[in-house]
Amino acid sequence: MIEDLWYKNAVFYCLSVETFMDSNGDGVGDFEGLTRRLDYLHGLGITAIWLMPFQPSPGKDDGYDVTDYYDVDPRYGTLGDFVEFAHGAKQRGMRVIIDLVVNHTSDQHPWFQSARSDPKSPYRDWYVWSKKKPANADEGMVFPGVQKTTWTRDAKAGEYYFHRFYEHQPDLNTANPHVQAEILKIMGFWLQLGVSGFRMDAVPFVIAEKGAAVTEPKQQFGMLRLFRQFIQWRQGDSIVLAEANVTPEENINYFGDDGDRLQMMFNFHVNQQLFLALAQERAEPIVKALDDTRHLPDGAQWGLHLRNHDELDLGRLGEEEREQVFAAFGPEETHQLYHRGIRRRLAPMMDGDLRRLKLAYSLMFTLPGVPVVRYGDEIGMGDDLSLPERYCARTPMQWSDEPQGGFTKSDKPVMPVIADGPYGYRYLNAADQRRDADSLLNWLERLIRMRKEMPEVAWGAHTALDTGTPEVLALRYDWRNNSVLFLHNLSNSPREIAFRTGRDGAPLIDLLGHDHREVEKGEAFRVLMEPYGLRWYRVGGLDYLLRRTEI
Ligand code: GLC
Repeated sequence: MIEDLWYKNAVFYCLSVETFMDSNGDGVGDFEGLTRRLDYLHGLGITAIWLMPFQPSPGKDDGYDVTDYYDVDPRYGTLGDFVEFAHGAKQRGMRVIIDLVVNHTSDQHPWFQSARSDPKSPYRDWYVWSKKKPANADEGMVFPGVQKTTWTRDAKAGEYYFHRFYEHQPDLNTANPHVQAEILKIMGFWLQLGVSGFRMDAVPFVIAEKGAAVTEPKQQFGMLRLFRQFIQWRQGDSIVLAEANVTPEENINYFGDDGDRLQMMFNFHVNQQLFLALAQERAEPIVKALDDTRHLPDGAQWGLHLRNHDELDLGRLGEEEREQVFAAFGPEETHQLYHRGIRRRLAPMMDGDLRRLKLAYSLMFTLPGVPVVRYGDEIGMGDDLSLPERYCARTPMQWSDEPQGGFTKSDKPVMPVIADGPYGYRYLNAADQRRDADSLLNWLERLIRMRKEMPEVAWGAHTALDTGTPEVLALRYDWRNNSVLFLHNLSNSPREIAFRTGRDGAPLIDLLGHDHREVEKGEAFRVLMEPYGLRWYRVGGLDYLLRRTEI
């Protein structure tokens, strides 16, 4: 049933049309602007673009509150502009996936407006109602501290409606077959317009039982098979990448034992343990998290991210561990959000330390799965903590040192461009970094190029090697008789390590530098790792021995 496993070894890049590039000078990013920047993304080596919601929306949750699933918000352009963009991406060999936000709609959606106005409306049962306020109404809020309840009374309907997220986002009654049919229709629509799949928003909530009497909602996993079947029957190479921040034991339910549900999930477990490892300067949390999430059905794959458009959610760490990550990367109250996470961008979290930033990136590119880069992180963009909640990390892309960072010709950008301080656009922008051979941007471009030449990471089996040094992570991948090896020193001081690769007598070819290694049979390799140092090696066989003379 699967026609193409393109997503097994891809490089994703996620962006919001609104803040990427404004072509018409009205201050709002648009599809035409994005289309003009496709060569930038292609040059970076991106193979798949993930677009955050761009459908018509009152914009009370940055587009995650949709009022029409079958259109483009006029501020970003038209459906025609979308198709031009999709065509441009395809021409350059890049796939497009889009956010699919079907756990809830905006309260302004005509379906909800009809549902609340008339108990006999065909849409009434598309939402989740209760005559009385349910006993658990003040439980289960996704945005604690900001969101007060999960059930709100609608005066017009005279009843309470359920909303897992903000009160302007009424939950769809996803158990209703009509709602399910509509979700399929929405997916079919965008597939027809050229997308290769969906980043499905809030999947555990989409498939949860909903209702006033539900105290412990069970997940309706069968729904995932329905979605999967439908998209692949329509278009064999289409995928769903699930946002599901669940425990490692639950993952398999989302992929399906036989891999018959969703193809991809973000590995939130590895994400949290990765930041814990960076904070503790110890490899063990990563090694353990990789073990916890090792088993995947054939054809399934992890998406790996560092930061995304939301807060860095540390909710699944123990209390003490979370405090350690807070202390290292988000010590101030204004850095933290919803009592569980950090809302800063990656570069400020790392104190702008390029060595540590590169270490984090290198980890994302070399752990099992595929990397998902967030726009602006490729140049080390900062945040604007004066903006509310998660908006601080959603400021416009900084293209150049022109006014508004070259994002728009208007002096009223849709979101403030970061102008002041070390992360301001005058000092930090894509144009400058393109000219500078040693910039983060050019380094990342080389990293992407090299990672694509190492399919072992995406397809192979991984083994953590013993380096005798808790601060250093050594991961070897084997696939089709080829091996690669990655070393990362998580600590801020040099570490000399000794290890065996498991391929006796084979040399190590340094793919990013000149630190090649060779030892006699039976000897251990020794490498002196600089603070936050990293190495990408190919473990050579005869083939590579011959080729090495050319290096
Ligand atoms: C997801 C999105 C987040 C949004 C929420 C509600 O968690 O990542 O940005 O606010 O869903 O749709």
